[in-house]
Amino acid sequence: MGQLSRIEDFITTQSPLLPNPPILQMSTTKLHLQAKLFLDHFSGKTSYAVKANAEAPVIAELVDAGINIFDVASPYEMKLVKEISASAILHYHNPIRSKQEVALALNVYDCKRFSVDHEDALHSIYAQTQNPAKIEIAIRFRMETKSKAIQSFKSKFGVLKEEAVSLLNKANAMGFKTGLTFHPGSQTTSPAPYLEHMQEAFEIQKQLSNRLQFLNIGGGFPAHYKMIVTETLPDFFKQINAKYHACFDPVITKLECEPGRALVAGAGTLITDVKAARADRGELYLNDGIYGGLMEFHQFPDLFPEYTSPLSENTMPMKEWTVYGPTCDPIDVLPYKLSLPSTLKEGDKIEFHGVGAYSTATATRFNGYGAIEVQMI
Ligand SMILES: Cc1ncc(COP(=O)(O)O)c(C=O)c1O
Repeated sequence: MGQLSRIEDFITTQSPLLPNPPILQMSTTKLHLQAKLFLDHFSGKTSYAVKANAEAPVIAELVDAGINIFDVASPYEMKLVKEISASAILHYHNPIRSKQEVALALNVYDCKRFSVDHEDALHSIYAQTQNPAKIEIAIRFRMETKSKAIQSFKSKFGVLKEEAVSLLNKANAMGFKTGLTFHPGSQTTSPAPYLEHMQEAFEIQKQLSNRLQFLNIGGGFPAHYKMIVTETLPDFFKQINAKYHACFDPVITKLECEPGRALVAGAGTLITDVKAARADRGELYLNDGIYGGLMEFHQFPDLFPEYTSPLSENTMPMKEWTVYGPTCDPIDVLPYKLSLPSTLKEGDKIEFHGVGAYSTATATRFNGYGAIEVQMI
């Protein structure tokens, strides 16, 4: 769409997009390759955690690449997935849900998997199902680990070992199928926390009369940012696979993972426009910022995205710029300066690479910004 027709479209239809919106380009080839990496090398089932990037064309592309299980957090995500693939299997792995949400999941979206970290949640599902033997309950547990992740997941959800045993026994007594799930923290920097959690799952199983029917090891796999992760995903898979075979009988306990970030981050490039360059003050204002597609770099400065400016290829003098987003809020600024050409001016582009996860998904509409055009390339 040309610049003028975009402005016309904006004025006549009051389109939620700006005349020049930031653009998230998602590479279909990279999405396919990453899905293939998980499907071919992870020795269990791979589901996609929709929250990382809930754009319909991204989900459609993953379905096309062979992903048919989706970790969903809400009825909205269930509807989205089912409209793209009626046969998709849903894992409702947000352990907090209202009675109405349970009813929608069971009766409208045919969801048969629920994560649970409290007895009330177990009763809420039991009260609404005619046939517990068809429902899988994943007890979410947590533990202390030496994990270095950008975000630890042990503070909000999950029960400790003893309570996991008790909940599993209760769920078994109610007639549900049962297993365990955990999340080792997002962007984990080594396989160690997966192995520690798998050992804990093994210890939990020792105290049960029924064997676990599945073990879901969560998301958390790292994607590529400037932050250093020395081991590759195949290294992670190899160690996880060895631990799985050492602790569990693969015929009885099925292994699963549910990556969000690692499946989609690398496929995304966010193309932003310079709205104003105040060279004398070293300040750059972009059409997207921390309330939009760059929110994670404010939340987790360690991530640090790769970035480029098409102008840098001309090897002009570079300059350290303070980079602001488009809103009036002073915290709408990247937590580090970016080295970019000193001659930048309005209309020039800055591209952020590897930002396909938690970019459009978490963007807000603060100050009327944050609408990002998504292009599949
Ligand atoms: C239950 C669950 N599974 C999977 C994920 C995806 O995690 P990641 O993007 O780190 O792979 C999340 C993230 O919030 C989650 O809550």
